[in-house]
Amino acid sequence: MQTQKKIVVLSGSGISAESGISTFRGGDGLWDNVRIEDVCTAEAWRRNPGRVLEFYNDRRAQLATVDPNDAHRILAEMEKEYDVRIITQNVDDLHERAGSTSVLHLHGELTKVRPENCCCEEDGFSLKYVQDIGYRPVSLGECGGPRHRQLRPHIVFFGEAVPNLEKAAAIVSQADILLIVGTSMQVYPAASLYHYSPEGCGIYMIDPEDSPAAAVSGVHHIKDVATRGMAEFVKLL
Ligand code: OAD
Repeated sequence: MQTQKKIVVLSGSGISAESGISTFRGGDGLWDNVRIEDVCTAEAWRRNPGRVLEFYNDRRAQLATVDPNDAHRILAEMEKEYDVRIITQNVDDLHERAGSTSVLHLHGELTKVRPENCCCEEDGFSLKYVQDIGYRPVSLGECGGPRHRQLRPHIVFFGEAVPNLEKAAAIVSQADILLIVGTSMQVYPAASLYHYSPEGCGIYMIDPEDSPAAAVSGVHHIKDVATRGMAEFVKLL
């Protein structure tokens, strides 16, 4: 029996842009309108958890109103022929809703929460009590877990460790083909993952803009939006 080619996908907010979800940077990105320091750091959570909850409640509510687009759907469809492993920086659930079965979230998931760990997440305590809440809001005073702590978004805040990083690096190191789609590759350590691809692995990037990552020698840049870019990528395989 022939084994399927392993296609590893590093996706970012650009793949969900055509579904109506904002990217983070460049022309009206999310971080052009909201300060990271107010909503996406451990310090912000300590200072004003209500504001942080509100920000993620709004994003969760918006997620309920959008659908996967053809780029998500093509990736799901590709599982019929390839061993497709998605590693995403996205906190939305559009890959899963399109039908992809192997999705590793590097920066957490909007539809999940966990009890805060007394502002100290290092011992992994709260990761054991992650719970699915769908698209509903979470309020200040809503607690969970055995120690009855305030529920916080299951999101990796800036400055926090990325628990799935080692798993992601191991997946990339097995890739026959690496596809980078819809990410500016500006946020580390996620942006460093492509360095783990093995020698001889073909690297493709789909992004309508030029980026330093696209200029790396050997990277095949499909300079288009994700939906058209994915259709083009499939033809090139
Ligand atoms: P960015 O906003 O940094 O980059 C989005 C990329 O998508 C850019 O390179 C755009 O050119 C591209 N893009 C825009 N529209 C597109 C389309 N229709 N099709 C394809 N590509 C398109 O977003 P990310 O790289 O995902 O982390 O950001 C990485 C992390 O920064 C996020 O996970 C988030 C953020 O802070 C946390 O919140 C922890």
